[in-house]
Amino acid sequence: TTNTDYYRPVYHHTPLYGWMNDANGLVYKDGEYHLYFQYNPYGSKWGNMHWGHSVSRDLIHWEHLAPAIARDTLGQIFSGSSVVDKNNSAGYGKDAMIAFYTSASDEHGQIQCMAYSTDNGRTYTKYEKNPILTPFDGLKDFRDPKVFWYEPAQKWYMIVSADKNMRFYSSSDMKNWEYLSQFGEGYGVQPNQFECPDFVQLPVDGNKNNMKWVMIVNINPGCPFGGSATEYFVGDFDGKEFKCDNDKSVTKWLDFGKDHYATVCFSNTGDRTIAVPWMSNWQYANVTPIRQYRGANALPRELSLYTKDGEIYMAANAVKETEGLRKGTTDVNDFTLTDEHLVSPLVTGTEGACELEMDVTPNKAQTVGFQLLNDKGEKVDIYLDLKSGRIVMDRSQSGLTAFGEKSEPHFKETDDHRKVLSVNYVNDFALGTWAPLSLCEGKTYHLDVFVDKCSVEIFVDGGRIAMTNLVFPTQPYNALRFYTQGGEAEVKNLKVHQLGL
Ligand code: FRU
Repeated sequence: TTNTDYYRPVYHHTPLYGWMNDANGLVYKDGEYHLYFQYNPYGSKWGNMHWGHSVSRDLIHWEHLAPAIARDTLGQIFSGSSVVDKNNSAGYGKDAMIAFYTSASDEHGQIQCMAYSTDNGRTYTKYEKNPILTPFDGLKDFRDPKVFWYEPAQKWYMIVSADKNMRFYSSSDMKNWEYLSQFGEGYGVQPNQFECPDFVQLPVDGNKNNMKWVMIVNINPGCPFGGSATEYFVGDFDGKEFKCDNDKSVTKWLDFGKDHYATVCFSNTGDRTIAVPWMSNWQYANVTPIRQYRGANALPRELSLYTKDGEIYMAANAVKETEGLRKGTTDVNDFTLTDEHLVSPLVTGTEGACELEMDVTPNKAQTVGFQLLNDKGEKVDIYLDLKSGRIVMDRSQSGLTAFGEKSEPHFKETDDHRKVLSVNYVNDFALGTWAPLSLCEGKTYHLDVFVDKCSVEIFVDGGRIAMTNLVFPTQPYNALRFYTQGGEAEVKNLKVHQLGL
């Protein structure tokens, strides 16, 4: 019913029933985008992992199909990738779809397996000699194989997360894999567990004569806002080893929110590189206030490389197909914000599903921002803090924030010195996340903000900054309240798009 499904997103992909985490086996073939995903068909918490399956022709409208790969005697089916076997390397026919996943069990540990499909990804047959790859050193954390075609060597390559490294392998037949090298130890934030690798080659600033390799590394736990997040490393690959351009201490984030994880890209999409995040965080993914299902994907993002102050960064922008979600647009006249607040009932009628676009010029303001709010005063506060050079999304008063693990009952003293029994939630949710504005050029910031039933995603200047956060308002946000501090600021080209499928 609408009641128990209150937070089900309008335009983000969710499983019909059951639990979902990582996107798996993302592949494009014959007009269809395949989204497989970590799936528990038996309940709305993590467990019994299968590969669930949805397909789309436009990355926006998804059709739910039957789970494609079910757990077996080798264990649960953990994350992995799929490719189209264009040269029939594996022998299941030209253009067979080949899936690579981790089987995980106490008995066999984490081992890499393979399955093939000759019916456009609907059903898979597991390779009879699985596993195809086990760790040479008995590593316990060895998973999430990403397979890609490496043109210079005319071979398939696999990258596997191996504790605090990513390991490279290559193969001619997809069944026998040779170890090449590993990368990662000591790079980026620590402590961490590397998970869900991806490895993509992209032009720098659109220049195809200057290509760079990017390793996407999902890490958990230990990220700046707590729990899990996605970082990336830019560098070069010689067919054997990846060399990062930066020193070990440099960390670059693919998203600056708290609910962006296990992000990997579609294979077989030609010149486009499209990533799909899981929109949650392992700190509280199992206890979000949702009942009938759990887990959603953030919007698919197009990845590209840009240069800022001599450094190469990766932009992640909502795919252009999201324009197809617009059901109506309100244009708002440009305005200058003074210290006074401006309240405008702008998002009424969107039932919590809208997109806001605007160009913000802070001028002399030290803080300029807006709140998405509802009649109960619940709000998401989004602002530029020019003093610290940050864009911030604060969800500490966004609605439900107290869920999750409860602390041990204890006595606490009140203001009038009575002792009362208290049970607090260990709250990893009520907080703000921020990104450095130094990633942007110029004095005007273009904000593209996607709001759905339980999420807010911000893309600044075409994805130079992406920030994805869950929110659980007890009624939809229906107003915008702009404010500035320390001077006037300008807001131009404000558009409110109502979104729907
Ligand atoms: C990442 C992850 C993967 C693993 C999967 C299990 O979120 O921990 O490393 O394969 O989830 O569901």
